[in-house]
Amino acid sequence: MATIGIDIAKAKEHLVAGELVAIPTETVYGLAANALNEEAVAKIFKAKNRPSFDPLIVHTNSIEKVEKVVEEIPAKAKKLVETFWPGPLTILLKKKAVVPDLVTSGLDSVAVRIPSHPLTLELLAQLEFPLAAPSANPFGYVSPTEAQHVEAQLGDQVSYILDGGTCRVGVESTIVSFLNEEPRVLRLGGLAVEKIEAVIGPVEVNQHSSSRPAAPGMLKSHYAPGKSIELINDFDWSKQSDFSEIGTIVFNKTLENIPLQNQLILSKSGDLDEAARNLFSALRFLDQNPNIKTILTEFVPNEGLGRAINDRLKRATAHKK
Ligand code: TXA
Ligand code: MG
Repeated sequence: MATIGIDIAKAKEHLVAGELVAIPTETVYGLAANALNEEAVAKIFKAKNRPSFDPLIVHTNSIEKVEKVVEEIPAKAKKLVETFWPGPLTILLKKKAVVPDLVTSGLDSVAVRIPSHPLTLELLAQLEFPLAAPSANPFGYVSPTEAQHVEAQLGDQVSYILDGGTCRVGVESTIVSFLNEEPRVLRLGGLAVEKIEAVIGPVEVNQHSSSRPAAPGMLKSHYAPGKSIELINDFDWSKQSDFSEIGTIVFNKTLENIPLQNQLILSKSGDLDEAARNLFSALRFLDQNPNIKTILTEFVPNEGLGRAINDRLKRATAHKK
């Protein structure tokens, strides 16, 4: 099993040696390797069982370092990152040749971000290379928001887990593509679209389709935990005799008939940021509770981080459609 700790020097040592280290970010934990070392990057795909057509995000701690891996940063992108980095924003730009094809799945673009977590920023500052890091979960499973989540699922695959506590944002970064004339949101995430638009004006938002995802890996069922998960409104109650087998993830109100200890409330006060922070551990908790056979959930208000939450819930419930 991997060691868990807060030793930045140790994390650095493993990364320099081409090994995998789990790193905390404000969104979710990442499974990191030297982005410029193809052999190290290959270990990420193997550990996650991730298809090689699904490219990785490159993490650094400064815009100067970002400039080493991308061609030019367009004016609107610059404005955006100056406002929101370090933070839950990833931008997609034309890549420089130094970025290995494995990182970008052979695409000529690279996704980059400066995450906002003191431990990881310090680690990145001490490294001479950027870190390629997808979320630190087996492919297709819910992203980890605690060091223990990583340990439970990938503990034997990583050399070290840098423990940064519970992730403050709780859903993955918002991905904005600057590959075309107009910016386009490819993945709804921890930075609300409203905030982006307040800085650079209206942006198009991709409606994810399951057939040909614009961002590879944006498959509809990507966030599904192992159990059956359905929308409360679609559920056939007449077929359910034992309500203690049902677990729910609701926004701020409880349901009648379901045992209260099975009902996870995302935010009692109806706060969407708090709801985002609680979403993945709620899914994980119910998925791992052996008494629960079915998870029922509902959409939250579709604004702010609610859009990212609904996007994840849509995909978690998609296999039912
Ligand atoms: O918050 C986050 O973004 C976390 C933390 C660890 O930074 N990372 C994360 O990585 O969510 P991952 O690999 O789980 O999701 C990255 C998404 C993938 O769906 C991938 O397809 C897309 O970004 N992506 C990466 N590079 C891309 C590229 N060149 N073109 C299109 N999509 C890309
Ligand atoms: Mg992921």
